[in-house]
Amino acid sequence: MQLERIREPVAEDLRGIDRVIIGRLASDVVLVNQVSQYIIGAGGKRLRPLSVVLAARACGYRGDQHQVAAAIIEFIHTATLLHDDVVDGSDLRRGRETANHVFGNEASVLVGDYLYSRAFQMMIDLGDLRIQEVMANATNTIAEGEVLQLMNAHDPDTTEQRYLDVIYRKTAKLFEAGAQVAAIVAGAPPEIEAAMAAYGRHLGTAFQLVDDSLDYSADKAELGKNIGDDLAEGKPTLPLIYAMANSAPEDTARLRQIVHDGGLDELDTVTRAIESSGGLQYTARLARREADLAIDALGRLPESAYLGSLRALADFAVGRSY
Ligand code: IPE
Ligand code: IPE
Ligand code: MG
Ligand code: MG
Repeated sequence: MQLERIREPVAEDLRGIDRVIIGRLASDVVLVNQVSQYIIGAGGKRLRPLSVVLAARACGYRGDQHQVAAAIIEFIHTATLLHDDVVDGSDLRRGRETANHVFGNEASVLVGDYLYSRAFQMMIDLGDLRIQEVMANATNTIAEGEVLQLMNAHDPDTTEQRYLDVIYRKTAKLFEAGAQVAAIVAGAPPEIEAAMAAYGRHLGTAFQLVDDSLDYSADKAELGKNIGDDLAEGKPTLPLIYAMANSAPEDTARLRQIVHDGGLDELDTVTRAIESSGGLQYTARLARREADLAIDALGRLPESAYLGSLRALADFAVGRSY
């Protein structure tokens, strides 16, 4: 299903989220506005806020506080992108030059902090300690994930298990928190809250697995990001971890050296090794399994258009090319 169709049942909520984002972005510090509007104005797929409002509606929620929760999640996501592009030395995001390239690393880091802290101010407005607890834990876990990944960089011994731990923390955790907060806002019972958290966790894992495949296989213009960013930083993601474990000994030795060195000089060598070893198919199979687990987690919820979109979103995360 196209993203447009998935969005349909919550079209009004998505406009509401836009209003919250625009209203809460503003600062009287000029550079804060410039940088934050630059990255938010570039759009993005808005998958996380979409999943939040769909989850709340699927739980039967009738109010509009879930729009605030969704905007909080998008602010946190955007803050991590501002920081991540500095850490990864990336120069293309959402089809535009990255904020660090336009405004510098300093401004990107500091405006990332602004968005983070604005998200926490908005959380206070929601007035629910459980929501604050879930979000505080999630942001802390994301930071750990990014640091763990830094420790894995240039390390050819990084295992699939260590990789999966990183992607759970840096990416899946925010999807998990978003869906769980949606259930809390909706006043759902504990078993539904747990089911939503599981949905978000598996959706987010599938999403990042595919992201790491796209870093080797996507069309740059369609993805809106550069290809090979992970290799450039010596980040061993699953397609390459698989290739290192499933190539002839001399090829494995070469791949290990390339991970150790980082850089893009050997991108073609790595792409060929990933293709011939089946690293992309392996990663895709894992992503499909995670998407199926996400869909299974929704089994206790009553049928609705929102539920249909949540299932379609899990399929989209696996089938996407951008
Ligand atoms: C990019 O996320 C960061 C990852 C966790 C891979 P998205 O691909 O959702 O980014 P936008 O918001 O659509 O630009
Ligand atoms: C993004 O990870 C995760 C966070 C921003 C926390 P990546 O570095 O893999 O994502 P892209 O490829 O830059 O979007
Ligand atoms: Mg990055
Ligand atoms: Mg990164």
